[in-house]
Amino acid sequence: MQNLLVTGGAGFIGSNFVHYMLEKYPAYRIVVYDVLTYAGRMENLALAQGNPQLSFVRGDICDIDAVRAAVDTYQIDTIINFAAETHVDRSILAPDAVVRTNVNGTWALLEVARERQLERFHQISTDEVYGAIPAPQRSTEGDPLEPRSPYSASKAGAEHLVYAYFITYGLPVTMTRGSNNIGPFHYPEKAVPLFTTNAIDDIPLPIYGDGLQMRDYQFVLDHCEGIDLVLHKGALGETYNVGTGVETANIDMAHKILRILGKPESLLQHVTDRAGHDRRYALDCSKLRALGWSSRHSFDQALERTVRWYVEHEGWWRPIKSGEYLEYYKQQYGAR
Ligand code: NAD
Ligand code: TYD
Repeated sequence: MQNLLVTGGAGFIGSNFVHYMLEKYPAYRIVVYDVLTYAGRMENLALAQGNPQLSFVRGDICDIDAVRAAVDTYQIDTIINFAAETHVDRSILAPDAVVRTNVNGTWALLEVARERQLERFHQISTDEVYGAIPAPQRSTEGDPLEPRSPYSASKAGAEHLVYAYFITYGLPVTMTRGSNNIGPFHYPEKAVPLFTTNAIDDIPLPIYGDGLQMRDYQFVLDHCEGIDLVLHKGALGETYNVGTGVETANIDMAHKILRILGKPESLLQHVTDRAGHDRRYALDCSKLRALGWSSRHSFDQALERTVRWYVEHEGWWRPIKSGEYLEYYKQQYGAR
């Protein structure tokens, strides 16, 4: 493992992973392959600008010839696939995009990995593939996949393809299923950065339904460490859950954001619920812990660090909250 193609490396988790890997492995060469959708931003990689270990290729994972060219040009031996359409709400508005990128795009990457006999293909997946999990159950890796949104169904479809390439062609694959990440460079359409940036500007925080849905919010660098460990110590063909194992209700998360920022509770605004909203995700992460991983941040520490980052980096998020974003916001929240 020396030459890594990190697809989606200009997005939220991908860019945090790139920074983490550049620092930890000075001998690795990292090529970010990213088409730069609205969620992909070169600013996310600005801290690594000029680093000779890092290259950038603008390309679509669905464009198999472009993927081939990048793999050949940079003598790639490992693909780590972060590239995806990642927002559940957008997947409800436009399901075609998740099928195209998350399913067809993953297939194109797998095909090139097979042709070029790469050392490893690692798929970044999500706890959402398990579907809604009633308390007190927790999902373990062998549980059936019961995705319920277009987004989670497309991620489950991608996983099935990855596993099929392992069984059928012997492609050396691994997968991780992460819970909700929070931290720097998170596009402010997702709940935590949206609530935080709205609260800073005294704009209401739109809580879907009763706000009692539970998510396991983990700090993004903890997730990156888990991926790193699976890349280096995970067994081929295996999947690993990555999360804190502690769930928080959205309404409690929103209260905490307001408290950290010293903003009034009157900013909380219950709005019409998301269609098909999964009530709870909960992971059992003992398989990854057995490899030596543990989460470094509690939910409170992760949230505090995240909110502070947004307070200190208005120059990153303010330009995003204009133009296309405002159009999206109107469409998503206008009639709620
Ligand atoms: P993000 O939306 O912030 O970034 C996605 C990146 O992929 C962007 O840079 C975008 O430009 C790129 N991309 C999209 N379509 C592409 C295409 N066709 N070709 C090339 N690049 C393309 O997403 P994120 O939150 O960083 O999520 C990264 C991965 O982690 C995804 O696979 C997601 O399913 C998974 N995941 C996310 C979370 C979470 O909480 N955010 C949790 C678990 C798993
Ligand atoms: P989100 O960040 O979109 O992640 P996911 O749907 O992939 O878990 O949403 C996190 C939780 O917050 C989810 O239960 C939906 C809820 N939510 C709101 O209540 N209001 C919002 O405006 C958004 C975007 C999400």
